[in-house]
Amino acid sequence: MHPMLSNAVKAARRAGNIITRASEDVGSLKIQTKTYNDFVTEVDKAAEGAIIDMLKDLYPTHGFLGEESGESNSEADFIWIIDPLDGTTNFLHGMPQYCISIALQERGVLTHAVVYDPNRNDLFTATKGRGAFLNDKRIRVSQRTKLQDTIIGTGFPFRDFTHLDTYLDMLKDMIKKTTGIRRPGSAALDLAYVAAGWYDGFWEIDLSTWDVAAGGLIVQEAGGIVGDFEGNESWLKTGNIVAANPKIFSQMLQTLSPHLTDDLKTPK
Ligand code: IPD
Ligand code: CA
Ligand code: CA
Ligand code: CA
Repeated sequence: MHPMLSNAVKAARRAGNIITRASEDVGSLKIQTKTYNDFVTEVDKAAEGAIIDMLKDLYPTHGFLGEESGESNSEADFIWIIDPLDGTTNFLHGMPQYCISIALQERGVLTHAVVYDPNRNDLFTATKGRGAFLNDKRIRVSQRTKLQDTIIGTGFPFRDFTHLDTYLDMLKDMIKKTTGIRRPGSAALDLAYVAAGWYDGFWEIDLSTWDVAAGGLIVQEAGGIVGDFEGNESWLKTGNIVAANPKIFSQMLQTLSPHLTDDLKTPK
């Protein structure tokens, strides 16, 4: 394993220990509401702090983009993109479906990624050009070729309802054209599941860079395609994302395309 990836794994496991300890008594946590239905606790912040402290010690010249602490040193060549707890709502309800997501971007290119599920001890990793792994075993996207035979993951809009009607139209078509839809509640794990071939595809509107950076690279390194709703590169910036095996990717784009409003297309 590349030393930078192995340090990211150590940081993710350290955050995992903080979260697991806190999960034994979620009832006692003080919950802050960032905006409607958007929660954060001291656990999200402590986990992010632990990751950044460790990586900053090792790489003092690097920049950081973390969900809870924002951007620092954003002009640096190396930027760590961190979601310390993806699936906070699940965590707060005692539902064991959440993860830690850490990606490294080098001059704009994603090079290393970790998505760690502390409940199952599932460690998904990837390095650009070196493939994707689950606990040291190589993973690949599924080989299904017909949308009708697939399980597709997604996330519902739950904070900002600007795109709710559009989303529901997309969902109706996806429900009719697939075997099943899943919404477990952690976008980074959803992407890892595409990489592992457990889902055949995934889409969601309006995610953030820290939700998709690590999972996106893991899907690509598992042989999948990641794009925005027109199949282009803007997914990391816009958070409008489709990820799937190559055969299913184009069928998902076709299914979504009649519903695209201008603001969901690739920015000009
Ligand atoms: C959320 C989860 C969820 C997705 C939301 C994200 P958070 O992240 O990934 O699955 O639907 O849009 O914001 O806030 O729990 O880190
Ligand atoms: Ca959040
Ligand atoms: Ca998240
Ligand atoms: Ca989070």
